[in-house]
Amino acid sequence: MKDIAVIGVGYVGLVTAACFSDLGNRVTALDINEERIERLKQGIMPIYEPGLEELVERNVQAERLFFTTSYEEALKDAEFVFIAVGTPSGVDGEADLRYVAAAARSIAETMDHELIIINKSTVPVGTGDWVAEIVRRYQPERIPFSVVSCPEFLREGSAISDFMHPHRTVLGSLDKDAAEKVAQIHLPLRAPIVITDLRTAEMIKYASNAFLATKISFINEIANICEALGADVKEVAVGMGYDQRIGPFFLDAGLGYGGSCFPKDVLALAHMAAEKGKHPQLLHAVMEINADRRKMAVEKVRELVGDLMGKTIGLLGLAFKPNTDDMREAPSIDIANDLIAAGARVRAYDPVAMENAASILPQVEMKPSAYAVAEGADALVVVTEWNEFKSLDLERVRGLMSSPNLLDGRNIYDPETVRSLGFNYLALGRGYDGNGVFPAGVEKLIASAD
Ligand code: NAD
Ligand code: UGA
Repeated sequence: MKDIAVIGVGYVGLVTAACFSDLGNRVTALDINEERIERLKQGIMPIYEPGLEELVERNVQAERLFFTTSYEEALKDAEFVFIAVGTPSGVDGEADLRYVAAAARSIAETMDHELIIINKSTVPVGTGDWVAEIVRRYQPERIPFSVVSCPEFLREGSAISDFMHPHRTVLGSLDKDAAEKVAQIHLPLRAPIVITDLRTAEMIKYASNAFLATKISFINEIANICEALGADVKEVAVGMGYDQRIGPFFLDAGLGYGGSCFPKDVLALAHMAAEKGKHPQLLHAVMEINADRRKMAVEKVRELVGDLMGKTIGLLGLAFKPNTDDMREAPSIDIANDLIAAGARVRAYDPVAMENAASILPQVEMKPSAYAVAEGADALVVVTEWNEFKSLDLERVRGLMSSPNLLDGRNIYDPETVRSLGFNYLALGRGYDGNGVFPAGVEKLIASAD
């Protein structure tokens, strides 16, 4: 059993604290947001994450997990302190490090014994050295400490399982002893541990997120080309994915990536490169393709319903991905705003994100179910692939709509089945429309064979 403090109880901090306590450690989780801490003490989670409430409750009851707003209380017996505060996009796209700086300063001002400070937030390369400088500057007296980078790779919606079964743990430090000690507390996770220097560890996190975002933009580019040539991107992805060098993951074409990470991290990496005089061409292309997906969705709705003025468009899903209530950088925001700007009335249903979405999208009418969204709608758009949308009674949906127009922004339906139910159906990157109409190039080929 180790004594661990975790600074920040957002998606990463709360999951880290709950999981380390479940592994038998004594963990104190701290946040400056008093309301969050007060509610956590009452067992109310600040975020929706499957399995989190039960995990927190179990460990609070076992007296292994504690919540506080006091740095003194959190650091009192701690050997390790994790920083897991937000690093949102700042001006020009660089990461805004004010929360990391504030956390580092509070640790420095409070610590009264040797500490290993572990940075879990996604931070620009060089931040670990800067954190060490801040701690040195604000310590009232010289107390030894080490800084270790331990980037987090969990995904929202499957955060607990990702934390407990990581593909690898990356640790970076100039102090090898400290890195070894941090490795020890990760041993129960039974994953390969990569120990490297601070800056390389920080870069591994950005490179990993940028690579995953690149995979998504790549398959979306292929989807565009599939559409033009009459191929089916879903099957292309399956066919590519069997190649072990490519792999089957992160090849779902759709409305592109959103969330609190890929958009800000690709931008921050491009910014870091530009600051050093490099021109990160690929990263710019990745971002451009991603932004185009949202505009393209609105164009497709126009293709289905004509002029958007006065039309009622229903959105199925608002969160940036299923199994989360997180609305940060969700494609639904741009899509809804563009539809509204074009004169459409927009309504939506999401199983868990409507409360968060209401303040971001005040003009969108929130409905209690997918069927309520369908009632009287001129078109429906699948924005987030929640499981419950995959098994909707589509016949009922069609019956409720004013016009049976369906844009499947996440390719969750079988085109033939949906069309046979009478829908005017558009998917993304599934070229052949099933009605005997081939894209222009294919028609030319057929004609030349005659
Ligand atoms: P979040 O916004 O959900 O939570 C951050 C928390 O930190 C908030 O509760 C905030 O009140 C608290 N905080 C801010 N300043 C503080 C301070 N000085 N002292 C104590 N608490 C403070 O953020 P998140 O989504 O958990 O992300 C945290 C970091 O982890 C980011 O750098 C992010 O890029 C990275 N990350 C996030 C994910 C994810 O899935 N969300 C995954 C991997 C890495
Ligand atoms: C992502 C990474 O997957 C995590 O490894 C990382 O820790 C995290 O960012 C982070 O650094 O914060 P997350 O953003 O929670 O996790 O969710 P993902 O499952 O990666 O999805 C991100 C976005 O990409 C979503 O909008 C999703 O719809 C989209 N996506 C994903 C696709 O469009 N196609 C795919 O094939 C996969």
